[in-house]
Amino acid sequence: MALKSSMPGQYSSLCATVPDSSTAVQVLTDLRGTAHLKPLYENTDGPSYEFLKGLVAQAHCSAWCLFRDEKAVAAIWYQRAGDRADMIDLRVLASSRRQGLGKRLLRASLIALEGVTTVDLEVRESNLAAQALYRAMGFQETGRRPDYYAAASGREPAILMSLALNVDEAVS
Ligand SMILES: CC(C)(COP(=O)(O)OP(=O)(O)OC[C@H]1O[C@@H](n2cnc3c(N)ncnc32)[C@H](O)[C@@H]1OP(=O)(O)O)[C@@H](O)C(=O)NCCC(=O)NCCS
Repeated sequence: MALKSSMPGQYSSLCATVPDSSTAVQVLTDLRGTAHLKPLYENTDGPSYEFLKGLVAQAHCSAWCLFRDEKAVAAIWYQRAGDRADMIDLRVLASSRRQGLGKRLLRASLIALEGVTTVDLEVRESNLAAQALYRAMGFQETGRRPDYYAAASGREPAILMSLALNVDEAVS
């Protein structure tokens, strides 16, 4: 997928050149922008809206948000260190899942992560939806951390996954 700079607005932005022209990917560079994202983080687990709001102001944070019909429907957050990036969170609005939006935003962000050669992430062992998406995008399991996440009954492991970014091959 190619990206082009085109959307007007208060942020620097990227507009995905996809058939659905009502869907655009924007870079979050301004704290004002994060208010749109609040509904994504209501009644969910994972990083809180307040935590992510603090992250966006930091130089090592890269974050993108997917808008459809001017409504934020997904967001993805990374922390970068050198040529590696940790994916902190990917989240699609509950009512908008299984429509290809998570995959679209993940793919667009991987293309836009300039200078990054490896992306790492952690995912709950029970989160089969996210794991399926990551595997479909070329991520491979690199390890496990036992008892990493709090769970309804005790603790559950984290699965560690990585993607080596050979953009031409991995992000298709
Ligand atoms: C995981 C998540 C981001 C997926 O977003 P999505 O927009 O629903 O996913 P997509 O529609 O782009 O699906 C892409 C692929 O992922 C896999 N997938 C997505 N949801 C799935 C599900 N519920 N069950 C099984 N596979 C699933 C499928 O392989 C799917 O391809 P397909 O539709 O051709 O079968 C979304 O479910 C979500 O926001 N979950 C809550 C937050 C979360 O768990 N984030 C991950 C933290 S590590």
